[in-house]
Amino acid sequence: MLLLIPMKPVGIDDIAIYVPPLYIDFKDFAEARKIDPSKLEFGIGIKKMAIVDADQDPACMAANACLRLMQKNDLKPSDIGRLYVATESGLDESKAMNSYVIGMLEQIYGQGSFEHCGGIECKFACVSGSYALYDNTNWIRCDEHNGKYAIVVVSDVAKYDIGSSGEYTQGAGAVAMLIKEEPRLLAFDQKVTSTVISNEHDFYRPFARSTPIVNGHYSNLAYLIYVKKAMLMYKQKAIETGLIKLRQDESIIDHIDLLAMHLPYSKMGKNALAFLLRHEWRNLPKWKQILAKIGMEEPKPPEGMGTIEAILSDKEFMKKDEEFRRRFMETEEYKQVFESKLASSLKASEIIGNLYTGSLYMGFRSEIEYEYRKGKDLAGLRVGFASYGSGCSAMAFSGVIQDRYKEVVSRMDLEREIGERRRISMEEYEQLHRGLRSVEERIVSKSKEFVLVSIGKRGEGFREYTFHN
Ligand code: CAA
Repeated sequence: MLLLIPMKPVGIDDIAIYVPPLYIDFKDFAEARKIDPSKLEFGIGIKKMAIVDADQDPACMAANACLRLMQKNDLKPSDIGRLYVATESGLDESKAMNSYVIGMLEQIYGQGSFEHCGGIECKFACVSGSYALYDNTNWIRCDEHNGKYAIVVVSDVAKYDIGSSGEYTQGAGAVAMLIKEEPRLLAFDQKVTSTVISNEHDFYRPFARSTPIVNGHYSNLAYLIYVKKAMLMYKQKAIETGLIKLRQDESIIDHIDLLAMHLPYSKMGKNALAFLLRHEWRNLPKWKQILAKIGMEEPKPPEGMGTIEAILSDKEFMKKDEEFRRRFMETEEYKQVFESKLASSLKASEIIGNLYTGSLYMGFRSEIEYEYRKGKDLAGLRVGFASYGSGCSAMAFSGVIQDRYKEVVSRMDLEREIGERRRISMEEYEQLHRGLRSVEERIVSKSKEFVLVSIGKRGEGFREYTFHN
């Protein structure tokens, strides 16, 4: 007789973050680049942009986040079976960033202490962390883990050309997540994860370039379109599997209590929510009243207008659509959803900036901390995740906050975990950006963390790190 054992929930048990100790203030940036500071504060949604020091890179940020995760959960290397690093700031065309991270952790836990582990570096712009989480969750679900946990760490330096419009959407940091059975924080919903993939040229970084080629407005629209497609697929699966049951005048967003979206900059989250809601609400009875408040018809792209280029080049349509979106975002209906489901996730982005792979997860972490601080009971709430990676792929999935979440969330304190930071001058920032400072010329000295000490001493391009006590 076949005995069916109910599957235990699997998901995120705890999260640790690392943010570099330098930042640029938006007012300094605006003055240097002759931009209206209101554009940065409200048009982009940035106040402080995290910048890596001369003795830092994505690998040491990842190792610092992993160490914090292990220390705060009293984990031993023998508890861990897999360590995955997701990044789009790769340091090597062959050697995975994981091996550098393991090397650093073994400076603390002993040579060879992680040898039993597996893991790879994952790349697909900002979405690869979500694929890494999904794969590791399934590694546990299919019982390949021998009672061990997985760590997924997402780490990036978001760096754009000086003087480009991407420059004010920079940032840096790492987020490490502990994945296990019966997690305290969030268990992923099964059989609803949805992905879309396409060959797009919105944003890419050819070999040997430290900054990407960016088609900015194209990338914004690609994000909106592909995330919407992934959400539609998610909705279909959620209905088919019986996870949700849509009643009249309801949309999928009614069944998602909190939303975490990829945040290249915080305003993108606001705009993406408006895009999703318009598509979800357009065919519902309540749309009529909303249109009356907006005071204009929703512009429709002309028939046959298929490509993103064609949509963007129709200036008249784009202008009307922008006007419609702005008015929609002023309605009580939009504001209510924004305030209750998304606003708390933007707080971290406003003071750190873009973390590429980490942006979605820093947003999720920000959201649960600030929603908890409001005194809200989070147990049982469904979190919807909307992940986007340029190039491109989007992923929509969800999870439910677990009963023991307070054990984790009550200890969260974003400002404390970011730690003391130094506001750097634009001159210092440009030196760092152009790579004009050696590791010895770091701006601040670090304690209790891993730093980069040299490149190329043991062999061309090989990196050496140390732990500063
Ligand atoms: N006061 C207030 N707001 C102002 C303003 C002012 N004085 N001046 C302009 N703004 C507003 C604009 O109205 C606009 O608002 P909406 O979002 O509501 O339309 C906003 O500021 C941005 O202004 P622009 O439309 O002039 O856009 P820009 O030329 O500054 O470029 C950008 C913005 C395209 C995002 C650019 O920063 C960029 O290329 N960034 C990098 C690419 C990127 O982040 N793409 C996002 C999707 S791809 C992705 O998500 C992957 C990833 O991580 C990179």
